[in-house]
Amino acid sequence: MTTPTPAPILDPLTVLRGLGSLRKLAGSYPAGHPMIGQKLKELEDVIAGLLQASNPIRIDVIRGDVFLDGVASSSENQANQQLLSQLSALGIDSIHIVEGVQRDELLAVAEFLWQYTESGESMSAQLAARNVQHISLGRLLPLDTRWRAPQWADAPTGPLDPDYAESLTMAQKTWEDTASGKPLDVVTVRDLVQMLIYKVARSNAALGQILAVKQYENLTYAHSVNVAMLSLLLGKQVGLDEATLAALVEAALLHDVGKTQIPLDIVRKPGALDKAERRMIEAHTTLGAEILIQTEGLHPLTPTVALEHHRGVKGTGYPDLGEAIPHPMSQIVSVADIYEAITGARTYQAPTPPERACLIMARMAGEKLNTGLVKKFVNAITFFPVGSLVRTNRNELGLVVQTNHREPLHPVLALVDEETYKPAGQVDTSERESSGGYARHITQSLPAPDGLDLREFLEPARAA
Ligand SMILES: [Fe+2]
Ligand SMILES: [Fe+2]
Repeated sequence: MTTPTPAPILDPLTVLRGLGSLRKLAGSYPAGHPMIGQKLKELEDVIAGLLQASNPIRIDVIRGDVFLDGVASSSENQANQQLLSQLSALGIDSIHIVEGVQRDELLAVAEFLWQYTESGESMSAQLAARNVQHISLGRLLPLDTRWRAPQWADAPTGPLDPDYAESLTMAQKTWEDTASGKPLDVVTVRDLVQMLIYKVARSNAALGQILAVKQYENLTYAHSVNVAMLSLLLGKQVGLDEATLAALVEAALLHDVGKTQIPLDIVRKPGALDKAERRMIEAHTTLGAEILIQTEGLHPLTPTVALEHHRGVKGTGYPDLGEAIPHPMSQIVSVADIYEAITGARTYQAPTPPERACLIMARMAGEKLNTGLVKKFVNAITFFPVGSLVRTNRNELGLVVQTNHREPLHPVLALVDEETYKPAGQVDTSERESSGGYARHITQSLPAPDGLDLREFLEPARAA
């Protein structure tokens, strides 16, 4: 078995709804009332199910949408809006629950929500006073000190693969020119497509830098280059011919070009968006398609992909195009787009490691993403893609330099000297001991520290 089994779709809204009704009950009935007991039991069951899929449970309300582990809930129920605005009126847009949570704590949180009024004391101190240790409530942004909103860089920093670095520079110029109202430079776009296909795709270091966790907020041109590369990877995996791959890379490169028409502070805004701002963000699809239709010399599917890349395979998402199913090329770009977004940083969220991103995408398969494409993508990159930094059960630090497609959880590692961050030999974690068991397992994946130069591990000849 090489792909994760998609987990059943777990809806974080059930937790919010449960807490909402428990809050009302706690305000209206004494603690031992059977209705409270019943609600507590229901909520406990839902939480136990969610905790099995992921611990901790991270439920965040961002821009009016509910996210479980950074993934938007699939429910689109208007009734939820009332609940969400109640929570936001209480100043809560984030609930984290860790394993070991007790029934008493759920009740204490519900009572707290009922009685809570802004006071000098922080929310976490008030919960601690009620003996709540496994649940935390908070605001996502800056009002809550629990959530430090880190300032991420705009693009990759540190030593990059030279071709990747050059393609980023070209993309940045194209992006900025378009933002300043100049027509899209088709010649540069074409050069960039060739460069990505024939140079960047051949560099392991570049692929590593794109696939691994990205410690920067990649909202604009770097995101576009990365999505183009990931789409290319997936396009190759599904066996597209060369001409189609070139069209795919072009479309992926330009899928978000409409964002050049939207004020950057709205594109970046991490907190709640009002309706007008939300409509503006969503318009990047139609705005992009318009720019691309007006540009001569592009592949005819390029505007289509820009228009459709936020639409799900069941016809949901935006813009509203009725029940139309997105073109297969748009579906490929959607998969790449989501992986890129999840593994990159956002103001409100640290980047997610690849193995977790794969699981998150598996949950989206069938509803939002094409299941076959998600499987192929996960197969292509594997849980621990080239460029990932991991720790083994022998407490070795290693960088994935080669994946074993038959054994996606056991890649080949270049060991990393923890003091110097230099290569210290290679091990194949798929090797077995005489007992038949694996000699090594990966126990953790880690963000790469500043001093580690991926190129020394993946392209030693070029890094020298
Ligand atoms: Fe987009
Ligand atoms: Fe995108």
